[in-house]
Amino acid sequence: MAKNDYIDLKTDIPGPVGMEWYARDRDSISPSYVRPYVLVADHAEGMQVTDVDGNTYLDFTAGVAVNSTGHRHPEVIKAIKDQADRLVHMSGTDFFYPIQIELAEKIKQIAPGPTEKMVWYGNSGAEAVEAGLKLARWHTKRSLAIAFFGGFHGRTYGAVTLSGSKAKHREGFSPMLQGVVHVPYAYCYRCPYNMTPDTCGLRCVDAIEEVMERIAPASDTAVIVAEPIQGEGGYVMPPEGYFQKVQKLCQQRGILLMIDEVQSGMGRTGKMFAIEHWDTEPDIMAIAKGVASGLPLGIMVAKKNVMDWKQGAHGSTFGGNPLSCAAALKTIDLLQNGLMENATKQGNYITKHLCEMQKKHPIMGDIRGKGLMIGVEFIKDSKKSKAKEESNALVIEAFRRGLLLLPCGENSVRLSPSLIVTRDQCDVMLEIWEESLDAVEKQMKS
Ligand SMILES: Cc1ncc(COP(=O)(O)O)c(C=O)c1O
Repeated sequence: MAKNDYIDLKTDIPGPVGMEWYARDRDSISPSYVRPYVLVADHAEGMQVTDVDGNTYLDFTAGVAVNSTGHRHPEVIKAIKDQADRLVHMSGTDFFYPIQIELAEKIKQIAPGPTEKMVWYGNSGAEAVEAGLKLARWHTKRSLAIAFFGGFHGRTYGAVTLSGSKAKHREGFSPMLQGVVHVPYAYCYRCPYNMTPDTCGLRCVDAIEEVMERIAPASDTAVIVAEPIQGEGGYVMPPEGYFQKVQKLCQQRGILLMIDEVQSGMGRTGKMFAIEHWDTEPDIMAIAKGVASGLPLGIMVAKKNVMDWKQGAHGSTFGGNPLSCAAALKTIDLLQNGLMENATKQGNYITKHLCEMQKKHPIMGDIRGKGLMIGVEFIKDSKKSKAKEESNALVIEAFRRGLLLLPCGENSVRLSPSLIVTRDQCDVMLEIWEESLDAVEKQMKS
C-alpha cells in the first residue's frame, strides 16, 4: 500500500480552520504547553488522526505514548461504554467497586516479581510518581531521594523535583522539594565519564555510591527513582547490567528502587514493563499513559510489605475511576494477546531500517530504544555537536507531509506509535522520514 492509503492532505498544513482554533487557543489556554506544530485534532481512528480541516495524518506519537491500542480501539470503546452504562463514579477512596479491585489484581499479576503487591490509584503519571515518593519516605522513615539527570517524572512539586531534564521545568518555581539529589544517568552515547560500555564496568553506578559517600548518606536515602529508558530526556537506554547493579546497590543499603514506567511501560518495549528486559524487580513502580488507551489513570504499585502506610495517608477522589479501570483491563487483554509481540516485531523492523538509513545520513547520530520506544539523536558533525534546529525541522517537515512525530531531549526525535502499527505503516513512516530528512539536509546546505 502507499502513503495515500493513510494520509490525505486537502489544505495547506496547518489548514485555515486549524489556524482559527489556534488563535482561540492562544487567547484562552495556558501558554505553558509545548506544541511543536499546529495539529488541531477533530477525530481519530487506529493509527490515523484527522484535523479540523479534514486532513488525515499517520500518527507515530500515539498522543505521547498513550493510545497504546490505537485511537478508539473498538473493544476498548465497548468496554468504556458498557461500564458507563453501569457506574461512572463513586470515588474509590471512600467506597468500593469491583472493577477497581479486578484491575488491581491484574496489575499485581503483570508487574514484575511475586504478586504480593498493593496498588494505589491516581489519574496521571505525576500523581503515581508523587505517591511513590511519599510511600518511600513513609516506609523507610528516611528523607532523601536520588534521581537522574535527563529524567522526567511530571509537573507536580515532588515529580518536578525528581525530574532533571530541563531547567525551564523549574525556572521560577523554587524552592523545590527538599532532599532530592541528582546523579548522571547511563547515557552511553554521551558518557559523562568519557568511557564506553564494554570497558566502563558501569562506572555510572559507582558514581551513585560516590554521591552517597559525599552528600547523600545511604542511611538517610529512602529511594532511587529512575526511568528504565528515559523518555522526555531523549529516549536514552542504559547498557546491559546497569539496573541489576543499581538494584544490588539499593538492596545492600536498604534503599527502595522506584521505577517510573509511565512512558516505557504497557508493552511498548515488547515486554509489559521495560525494566523486565533487565531482570530487575522494583520495590515501587509508577504506571500511567498507555495503561488505559487514552483515559486518565495513574497507578502506583508497590511490594506489599512496602505499602504499609496507614488509612487516610494518601488518596485521590477520581483516581482509578470505573471508566479508566474498564479501559485498562481491556487494554491489558489486547496487549497480552498480540500487541506486545507486534511491538517487538515492528520495532525491530523500524530500527533495522533506520540503521540502514543512518549510513547515508550521518546527521542521524544515534538510534536507540527497544520495541516501539525508538529515539534518534541528531548531530551536526563527528564531534557530536547537537543538531537541535535540524531535529526540530525534521518534525515539522514530517508534519507537512502528513506524518506526526514528536521531539524529545534537546536534539532527538521519538517514535512511539500505537502498538497496533502495521509493517505497511512503518514503511510509509520510513519513506516520509527519509524525504523529510533530505529536505532538512538541503536546508542545511543552502
Ligand atoms: C516517565 C514519565 N513519568 C511521568 C510523567 C508524567 O505523566 P503525566 O503527564 O501523566 O503527569 C511522564 C510524562 O511524560 C513521563 O514520561
